[in-house]
Amino acid sequence: MGSQIPLNLSPFVARPNTQVEASDGGPAARPRRALITGITGQDGSYLAELLLAKGYEVCGVVRRSSSFNTGRIDHIYQDPHEPNVRLRLVHGDLCDASSINRILKTFRPDEIYNLGAQSHVKVSFDIPEYTADVTGLGAIRLLEAMRELGLQAKFYQASSSELYGRAAEVPQRETTPFYPRSPYAAAKAYAFYVTRNYREAYGIFAVNGILFNHESPRRGETFVTRKITRAAARIARGKQGRLYLGNLDARRDWGYAADYVDAMWRMLQAATPDDYVIATGQRHSVREFCELAFAAVDLPLRWEGEGVDERGIGPAGQLLVEIDPRYFRPAEVDDLCGDYSKARRELGWAPTTSFHELVQMMVVADLKLVDALA
Ligand code: NAP
Ligand code: GDD
Repeated sequence: MGSQIPLNLSPFVARPNTQVEASDGGPAARPRRALITGITGQDGSYLAELLLAKGYEVCGVVRRSSSFNTGRIDHIYQDPHEPNVRLRLVHGDLCDASSINRILKTFRPDEIYNLGAQSHVKVSFDIPEYTADVTGLGAIRLLEAMRELGLQAKFYQASSSELYGRAAEVPQRETTPFYPRSPYAAAKAYAFYVTRNYREAYGIFAVNGILFNHESPRRGETFVTRKITRAAARIARGKQGRLYLGNLDARRDWGYAADYVDAMWRMLQAATPDDYVIATGQRHSVREFCELAFAAVDLPLRWEGEGVDERGIGPAGQLLVEIDPRYFRPAEVDDLCGDYSKARRELGWAPTTSFHELVQMMVVADLKLVDALA
């Protein structure tokens, strides 16, 4: 997703924790401050919107890129030259402890949401060491900086249902053992355990949200849901001929990203820190996702053949979906489905968006995007 608007990433100026005046003339508490790593990603953009709407001051960590990487947050960007700016962006990198220390020292957040990651499972097999650095060690760099600075902030770690891997039970809950099946999942396991360890060892309010797959029109284009909805829209408008996919049988518990960032926030408002599964409790296959997405653009699919020869055929007999073994993974996670009853009970959280609504929303957004570019 390319941004057209260059953002002004200014060096951070430390500000005192000044009090502002309340409407009744008395002193009001200063706005709460949240730091978001991964603010330019899918979840970071929804979380920033949520926190700004709640009155927070938000600082987003943006990594340096040779092209614009802020397309998902351009609509909430605030010019730092204006007064009372509540969204600030700073350059930093989870691989660079000095940048993390500096940002924490100057911004002094009340809440830290660690969403930054090399988050693509298949890519983690190609760049395993880098994935371990960002996705695994990134968490300890933040936790260590908090500890060394004596920062009394709450810490959210973006843990993942990928931790369950070859899952020992269905549905998966907080007590289900982990069985990571990729360098990504192994890195997330490290981050999960150090988060829990810093809670137990140092009394830091540090929590893991074990989030199952969540999607949206802002989902990266190489994750399977967005790849499918984008292709369905483009094929419907004559911009693409065919879609190549990997394992159609994989099943996931897919929810809506905007619902899931609300769960992150609720975890940090709880009376005591704990780890929570966030999911819908419903699972569907990649094949079902395809069927719904293509049906939504009036191209109902029927399937022919088996294994790598399976094909999705359109209503006029046209070949629309083919298997490309390049998209298979060296080790697959076949089936994920989460039990979110602890989050419902203790946080009052529940998903609001059904699988059908999610697919429809993503297809409609991708059709709009294709039409806007036409
Ligand atoms: P995403 O869209 O891939 O966003 C990842 C973010 O991390 C981007 O802002 C990216 O910056 C940033 N990032 C990458 N490398 C970095 C580095 N070295 N230093 C600082 N930032 C870096 O991921 P997402 O879907 O929003 O997911 C958010 C988090 O939740 C991730 O940690 C992911 O692993 C985890 N998670 C996601 C799901 C899901 O289904 N979406 C489920 C469970 C857990 P650029 O924009 O510059 O690339
Ligand atoms: N990406 C992709 N591309 N996946 C495909 C394709 C394809 O062409 N064809 C089939 N799949 C299958 C994958 O093999 C996998 O079983 C499933 O579709 C979902 O793949 P992704 O959408 O890439 O997501 P993921 O489940 O591997 O990982 C996502 O969810 C995790 C939570 O469980 C990411 O967001 C992770 O960061 C997150 O932790």
